[in-house]
Amino acid sequence: MESVDRRLLVTGGAGFIGSHVVEAALADGWTVAVLDDLSSGRRAHVPSGVAFYEIDVRDAGGVQAAVRDFSPTVISHQAAQASVSVSVRDPLLDAEINIRGGLHILEAARTNKVHRIVFASTGGAIYGEVSSGAADECTPERPYSPYATSKFAFERYMETYRQQYGLQAISLRYANVYGPRQNPHGEAGVVAIFLQHLRKGEPLQINARQTLGDDGCLRDYVYVADVARANLAAARGDTPALLNVGTGQSTSTRALAEALAKEVGVTPILTSALPRPGDLKRSVLDSTLASSLLGTPTSLDAGLRQLVLWSELEDAAQTNF
Ligand SMILES: NC(=O)c1ccc[n+]([C@@H]2O[C@H](COP(=O)([O-])OP(=O)(O)OC[C@H]3O[C@@H](n4cnc5c(N)ncnc54)[C@H](O)[C@@H]3O)[C@@H](O)[C@H]2O)c1
Repeated sequence: MESVDRRLLVTGGAGFIGSHVVEAALADGWTVAVLDDLSSGRRAHVPSGVAFYEIDVRDAGGVQAAVRDFSPTVISHQAAQASVSVSVRDPLLDAEINIRGGLHILEAARTNKVHRIVFASTGGAIYGEVSSGAADECTPERPYSPYATSKFAFERYMETYRQQYGLQAISLRYANVYGPRQNPHGEAGVVAIFLQHLRKGEPLQINARQTLGDDGCLRDYVYVADVARANLAAARGDTPALLNVGTGQSTSTRALAEALAKEVGVTPILTSALPRPGDLKRSVLDSTLASSLLGTPTSLDAGLRQLVLWSELEDAAQTNF
């Protein structure tokens, strides 16, 4: 990495992925701050000693003031309206946060001489249906939901700021991310939802891919530590401007349920439901480039094992509290 001060502002750093980026950056010697409105994130996810700005990215003045105050060299932009179904119900809200809010970050980066921005984009949604094989970085984008469209639009804005102002801009297109601290209460994050049900002895619902009773949709599940590692490499300037962050493996919802139940040590009760309108049937990312830069991604079994171990430790900590 070229010699710039290592000051990282993580937007959305109180959330699931952002909090792992914060931890990885601290371990790598960065000075870190978090900007988050705590709409889905938690203050407790931000380690003590990390500067915290409780600000909504829609608040242009607040974003400017925070960036001016902390003076980051790099911004890792994770804050977002992150739900596909919310974006379908309320595309204006999605655009307000993901496009307009994102532009507030870009404007603050421009006016405060930020060196580089790393963006949490979506490989899981931006390529649309991946009927066979895996989508690589050259696959044409086919954003289908307002969420995918707003993420794609922001990628284009970043490119504009690169051309106009020389802001270095890296888009990381994540597959389906899972791991510790993922919120099981939303509608996204099937791994977190299944884990919660399994630990309560509740059934797991397999939404069909095509017909009732099939194995469910196919997804590429990537472990959050690998996503944090990709963010740090991008923050250091060690990645190209566009990188898929996945595993190249496709896993059905049923196979996921069974693999997770095995790690928890229970026999799952599986129920079937009709396909959910709007769900992509198959989404898999070719992550050859990321693997060549960052090493082999964590296998699904190993990632699920670490997640279950973490949740047991969390439970034990709660009990002893
Ligand atoms: N989880 C996945 O599988 C996945 C896949 C692809 C891309 N992403 C992207 O990764 C990023 C992080 O997602 P996550 O899964 O950790 O979600 P998350 O909800 O846990 O984290 C998002 C964080 O952003 C904050 N936030 C939301 N709206 C905000 C606003 N208006 N102003 C300031 N802060 C705000 C939330 O409080 C939260 O802390 C998002 O940009 C998401 O779109 C996630």
